[in-house]
Amino acid sequence: MDNTRFPADFLWGAATSAYQIEGSPLADGAGPSNWHRFCRLPGAIHNDDTGDMACDHYRRWADDVRLMKELGLKAYRFSMAWSRVLPNGRGKPNEKGLDFYRNLADALIANGIEPFVTLHHWDLPMALDDLGGWANRDSAHWFADYAHLIFRALEDRVRYWTTLNEPWVIVDAGYLHGVHPPGLKSLEKTPLAAHNLLRAHAKAVQAFRADGKGRIGLVVNLEPKYAASNDPEDAAAMARAHAYMNRQFLDPVFLGAYPDELAEIFGRDWPRFPEDDLRLIREPIDFLGINYYTRSVVRSDPSSPPFYASPVPQANAEHTAMNWEVFPDGLKSCLLWVKRRYGDIPLYVTENGAALTDPLPKEGRVEDPRRIDYLRAHLRAAHEALLQGANLKGYFAWSLLDNFEWALGFSKRFGLVHVDYATQKRTPKASASFYREVIESQGERIWD
Ligand code: FCB
Repeated sequence: MDNTRFPADFLWGAATSAYQIEGSPLADGAGPSNWHRFCRLPGAIHNDDTGDMACDHYRRWADDVRLMKELGLKAYRFSMAWSRVLPNGRGKPNEKGLDFYRNLADALIANGIEPFVTLHHWDLPMALDDLGGWANRDSAHWFADYAHLIFRALEDRVRYWTTLNEPWVIVDAGYLHGVHPPGLKSLEKTPLAAHNLLRAHAKAVQAFRADGKGRIGLVVNLEPKYAASNDPEDAAAMARAHAYMNRQFLDPVFLGAYPDELAEIFGRDWPRFPEDDLRLIREPIDFLGINYYTRSVVRSDPSSPPFYASPVPQANAEHTAMNWEVFPDGLKSCLLWVKRRYGDIPLYVTENGAALTDPLPKEGRVEDPRRIDYLRAHLRAAHEALLQGANLKGYFAWSLLDNFEWALGFSKRFGLVHVDYATQKRTPKASASFYREVIESQGERIWD
């Protein structure tokens, strides 16, 4: 390892997801997704925004690939909209939906950009949501069948696959807090949905082993937890929060068992899962994707079930527009923690970035120095982790474009490229030039 550069084969990219950028959700025979419906519930989304237009990427994809090329990206992480290719979630495929992704992958490859495909980034076909979504045990089969279809359709083009994006957010926001679809607040369904997501993931990996090519992994969001004090109660609260957010998915995948803390947290609602399921879930994967944004400091809070833990705001720290603390060292901790706890599996930072209140484009420029600082600091942390032995293979900035930030609508801008939603004009921000220089210099630029 070079002291200042990243490895020569390091994969430098940017990431997006289907519902956040594509628009045209029902075009060419696509079926509605859970998000399509959820956005129509009054008050569910900030400003009642929807993904109906988003960044209009479904129609502008060829220009967007040209833009990626200009930015010097070596890889592009995007997700597939399940209900574009299977309008009802199951059954007869929609060839036009598949063609969209085939064309996109072809254009990326023609421009020397490696497609890095996520099978599921939260937009579940509405027809499957109607059947109970991830709380339904059959969801694992639905997903494996969908995955099988996609592997066959794209296997000649795609070498990097991931099954699910952030299953923790799917269950925490969708089944426990009701702020994402299906909008439930159910202690009973939350662990069931989490478990079925893991079964779905493992079954898709098995389908891949049977007939896919390349490498496959899972993407989780990690957020290191720190105790607010040395008080044993705070330490216990920290351990619960850590088990729920960081170990809930990785312990079963790599170690074959759920953390004991989950049974404590869910109490009577914690199911007895069949041993066969746990064996299935341990299906080996080729790499792990880590999405990292921030950390949290927690204290014990007896008035706040089921975790009995509350975050402690860090008043003096820097925060992004999401009110997330800027804490680059946490990225290094996560990368090294995964290696210590789960072994030396190849890692990718599959998302990292900052929402900020950028100035409007002026004379074709958007000055976003704080985003540059954010990226630089996190890349330095990633490089330190590499020097300390982390098996880090690539990094994807979130996001290529300003886009639809889920329940927060268009109010948060994470892009390296500014999008004017009224005209769909793209303007690369100063951070995009910085990132291009980082890529060109194999990382050397982060030390300037
Ligand atoms: C992650 C999501 C991604 C984006 C970023 C800000 O949790 O995977 O779609 O919303 O947060």
